[in-house]
Amino acid sequence: MDFNLTEEHLMIQQAARDFAQNELLPGVIERDEHSKFPTEQVKMMADLGFMGMMVDPKYGGSGLDSVSYVLAMTEIAKVDASAAVIMSVNNSLVCAGLEKYCTEEQKMKYLVPLAKGEVIGAFCLSEPEAGSDATSQKTTAIDKGDHYLLNGTKNWITNGSTASTYLVIAQTDIEKKHKGINAFIVEKGWPGFEVGPKEKKMGIRGSDTHSLMFTDVKVPKENRIGPDGFGFSFAMNVLNGGRIGIASQALGIATGAYELALKYSHERKAFGKEIFHHQAIAFKLADMYVKITAAKLLVMKAACEKDEGKDISHSGAMAKLYASEVALEVANDAVQIHGGNGYVAEYHVERMMRDSKITQIYEGTSEIQRIVISRGLVS
Ligand code: CAA
Repeated sequence: MDFNLTEEHLMIQQAARDFAQNELLPGVIERDEHSKFPTEQVKMMADLGFMGMMVDPKYGGSGLDSVSYVLAMTEIAKVDASAAVIMSVNNSLVCAGLEKYCTEEQKMKYLVPLAKGEVIGAFCLSEPEAGSDATSQKTTAIDKGDHYLLNGTKNWITNGSTASTYLVIAQTDIEKKHKGINAFIVEKGWPGFEVGPKEKKMGIRGSDTHSLMFTDVKVPKENRIGPDGFGFSFAMNVLNGGRIGIASQALGIATGAYELALKYSHERKAFGKEIFHHQAIAFKLADMYVKITAAKLLVMKAACEKDEGKDISHSGAMAKLYASEVALEVANDAVQIHGGNGYVAEYHVERMMRDSKITQIYEGTSEIQRIVISRGLVS
């Protein structure tokens, strides 16, 4: 494991930083206020190669490593956590899942446009009664010979209405429990596939989150991912990598909030001096910095291990668990340091505090991460 960044890493980090500051920052408050999807900005992210960062160039990707991905994700989440989750789902759930587990035909048809950012993808596992308990899938896909018939509802789907390609997990044989689950590639517009209304959310309001309804949707057999019964393993393995993306998002939110609080502490005066020179504020900033540094080390460790081809179920869960806790704590402290100004939109930190909460919920709650980590201790 080598935490030294290469010239290429530094260039990618700088490109992401410039993009975030120049293109995401100017409209971020307005997009949050009106729950507006960053359509133009996502196109620019595609042009920068950020929508398929780790995908092999022969499938339209940028061919970069996970460390590069973490660096870019962090810079983007520092400014706009909504843009970061759109990018994270496309990269580390959809593109990664297709590249690792799909056939050449499936990759040419679906992965190439996703990795180029010409279209967006969504990952559809959660259901009204199967969020954390992912084996309890109620969505069914019945084998009809040359196709499956898909029926059910998926909830809280990121990129729900903006996606064109959906990876849908469904039960094909209830008797076999998790070994009777399959994953399918489903296209928007297929008869019987309906997108529900947009969720009104506490945070990450620039990203679109929807329920999806499937009623007798015909899914061709060639759109099943992997061998029969592979769907649960597919979802778990994809989520292991996805957790590095969400950990990077959390790290970015924490870093963004900390940097704003540090700057503010040198601008704002109280009791005759800059508030940074009051120990109560300086110590808070010191604690924030230590937590962010510890989170960064965990996220980088997971990314390095992924690049080394190691099993990242444990390190990814640790990174997500810790970075999401740090995001919440640091964003809260940043609001506190800003005082009354922290509570209003123009100072950004109230949005960051709202945005941070979801990092403890999606791609496995903190409780799920603790299950994964504690099981790893035994094995
Ligand atoms: N990596 C690889 N395989 C795993 C795994 C992991 N992290 N966790 C479990 N598995 C495998 C097990 O090895 C086992 O396989 P075998 O039978 O072949 O041995 C199989 O999966 C079943 O495992 P368990 O018996 O442990 O299953 P379980 O029902 O007790 O619980 C769980 C597993 C870890 C709790 C799992 O249900 C889980 O991770 N739940 C959370 C799901 C989640 O993250 N949802 C988020 C939705 S996606 C999202 O948020 C996207 C978005 O839009 C942002």
